[in-house]
Amino acid sequence: MKTSPKTKAKSESTKVSAAAGLSGPDLSVEIAGYRFKNPIWTASGTCGYGEELDEIFDLNTLGGIVTKSITWKPRQGHPPSRVSEESSGMLNAIGLANVGVKAYVDEKLPFLEKYGLGVIVNVAGFDFQEYIDVCARLADHPRADMVELNISCPNISSGGIEFGADPKQVEKIVRAVKRVFPRPVIPKLSPNVTDIAEIARGAEAGGADAISLINTFIAMGVDIHSKRPTLSNNRGGLSGPAIKPIALSMVNSVYEAVSVPVIGIGGAANYEDVVEFMICGASAVQLGTALFREPDLPVRVLSDLTKFLIQGSYNSVTDLIGSIKMN
Ligand SMILES: Cc1cc2nc3c(=O)[nH]c(=O)nc-3n(C[C@H](O)[C@H](O)[C@H](O)COP(=O)(O)O)c2cc1C
Repeated sequence: MKTSPKTKAKSESTKVSAAAGLSGPDLSVEIAGYRFKNPIWTASGTCGYGEELDEIFDLNTLGGIVTKSITWKPRQGHPPSRVSEESSGMLNAIGLANVGVKAYVDEKLPFLEKYGLGVIVNVAGFDFQEYIDVCARLADHPRADMVELNISCPNISSGGIEFGADPKQVEKIVRAVKRVFPRPVIPKLSPNVTDIAEIARGAEAGGADAISLINTFIAMGVDIHSKRPTLSNNRGGLSGPAIKPIALSMVNSVYEAVSVPVIGIGGAANYEDVVEFMICGASAVQLGTALFREPDLPVRVLSDLTKFLIQGSYNSVTDLIGSIKMN
């Protein structure tokens, strides 16, 4: 039987509070009408479909999991080398390798049924129709609590420019997905734009229920011996600690620009980073690249966050959201 995330979240939330002591702070956050038991999610592409992480820690620890981008058909992705390490983070050009939406709903989504966490299905496409088709296919599967739209993909019908680079395109895509998917829709913004607040306003105009940001920055690494780029695709996306201050700035700009909840992503690697994102306006924070170094990071972050809230006499983690005091 399917319980709504709201109901599930409530019982889990009680458990977490009990672990932190009876008078412990409330860690739950409400986003688009769903109550997540805590604000810690994992980021798309850094936690697969959840199976591997579950071997390392209990997935029930998480408020939400955002699964790997799904396209209509399965994709092999780019050939190796698909990732490379930089001094301040990580470069990747995976090329959206994934099992395709059919295998996702038949084989991957059922695995997540037993967990009391929000399941956010990240969806990618190379034209409008692909986003619509994939989201329509997910519509009949209530375990797909929400979709997150990876709009950092090149739009093949407009010469390969990212969907996420144009507020009008973002508005159009969100509106179209909202027509076929009955639960919350979260566009995930690309940072490779001039004015991210303008893109966020486009997303909100299209009916976005929340907005997540940021995806990776277009970047390149070079091997000085071969003089070749380190990635087979030449360029890739930069993630990790290097991008956190930019992500914080962008999260705050978007928080100021729209009235829907904002979900922070970019270089978060400990509870302090999570708190920073929430102070800047994030209602939840996704952990990404940091999981490669410390796969059970969410357990530590949640425990440290709880201690921080107790020490600061916060009743609720939501007290942090948007509490920044600008100079
Ligand atoms: C190896 C790797 C694969 C990724 N794959 C996806 C993906 O399939 N879809 C997506 O929307 N973002 C993807 N991302 C971006 C992350 O979800 C996240 O937005 C970005 O890495 C910034 O957060 P971080 O610095 O905490 O990793 C990927 C990132 C990495 C490092």
